Amino acid sequence: MIRILGGNRLQGEVRISGAKNAALPAIFASLLTPEPLILRNVPRLLDVETAVELVRALGKEVHWENGILRIWGGEELCPEAPAELVQRMRASFLVLGPLVARMGRARVALPGGCALGPRPVDFHLHGLARLGAQVELHHGAVHAHARHLQGTTIYLDFPSVGATEQLLLAGALARGKTVVVNPAREPEVVELAALLTEMGAPVRWEMDRVIIQGCAKLGGAEHSIIPDRIEAGTYLLAGAITGGRVRALAACPEHLWALVDRLTLAGAAVEVGPDWVEVEGPQRPKAVDFRTWPYPGFPTDLQPPMVALLARAEGRSTITETVYAARFGHVEPLLQMGAKIQVTGNVLVVEGVERLRGARVEATDIRAGAALVLAALAAEGVSFIGGDHHLARGYENLAEKLRALGAQVWEERD
Ligand code: EPZ
Repeated sequence: MIRILGGNRLQGEVRISGAKNAALPAIFASLLTPEPLILRNVPRLLDVETAVELVRALGKEVHWENGILRIWGGEELCPEAPAELVQRMRASFLVLGPLVARMGRARVALPGGCALGPRPVDFHLHGLARLGAQVELHHGAVHAHARHLQGTTIYLDFPSVGATEQLLLAGALARGKTVVVNPAREPEVVELAALLTEMGAPVRWEMDRVIIQGCAKLGGAEHSIIPDRIEAGTYLLAGAITGGRVRALAACPEHLWALVDRLTLAGAAVEVGPDWVEVEGPQRPKAVDFRTWPYPGFPTDLQPPMVALLARAEGRSTITETVYAARFGHVEPLLQMGAKIQVTGNVLVVEGVERLRGARVEATDIRAGAALVLAALAAEGVSFIGGDHHLARGYENLAEKLRALGAQVWEERD
């Protein structure tokens, strides 16, 4: 349970941690080789702990200290991923490709759906089948096997982050070239490609495709995890919603242009440095329309926090969520805090109100939780946010970082 007393303007600097969504695929890349993989700037998050637990269960040795992960060993991997770990975190499904590529077979439970609507893995399975794997579904788990994977050209109906990562991981050990047409281009996917190149499977990006040259035996690598653009965006929005002034340090401005654009339209003063971004919030934000879109579009993971900002804007904002069928878990709790939001299909219409009011609310996923934290920081009175384990999945030292910016935040036992 997180308790927040709203009303303080956040002021100061916050150091951005390594990106969760870059660390996770990098950890699973360790399954492709018994050689040592050293990852730096790894955030201490529940999801990263789950990924470490999973690769250990599959046969890897892991040492984690001071943000540095050393992963090695696993000459022979266990080809069966514990269902509980895959159900706990969707990204665990990324072990499928590496296990089939290394061991010739794998059994991985289908990831649990979650608060973002149905989240199939059909693009993953289609791509692995195209690489020559026999893929079957039995009792809610994927059974896949292949004597070897053979590179080919695979088209993705949608530039899926996970499916692109899955096929890069599998393609790294496939024979010949694997081409993914219409790939995801999120910075975290680009980082995975750079890591695989360091490990010995060269990856090249072209206009409409990414090409990976498979390699019989991959080596180890040392790699530093890029800053978390979603964490950075969340803190910049915290500065904006409280009318304060927040600088996100060790951030990557190049990954935040869509947010910078809409924050400026909302009336915030935004300043960009080489490795920092600073936002000075307006007294009251202006209404802004936007749609989420695959990178470099407005990130769907910042849609809920941005809606929290617009909940207290002057005027009506129209938001279209194009990446997920139903990413609206933050709407109900925001209504409890006095927001005026209507959902029609995948369109949110927000009538801004002068002040939100503190309430007892429940987070249903990482980014919905972030939206509730932001709303509580700007609300009148006290808010209690349950489901805060979701926040610990994606935000390192959240309460500590917020307190350092002047927020009145307490973590309490439920
Ligand atoms: C990644 O999820 C991120 N997670 C998500 O962040 C992020 O919201 C998402 O990309 C979009 O940017 C990680 O990187 C660990 P997708 P992923 O495959 O890979 C549909 C967070 O809070 N789809 O790009 O699951 C899917 O249902 C998390 O950090 C299929 O239909 O996203 C969704 O509507 C939340 N079939 C859309 O594509 C498939 O085979 C985007 O999914 C795969 C996906």
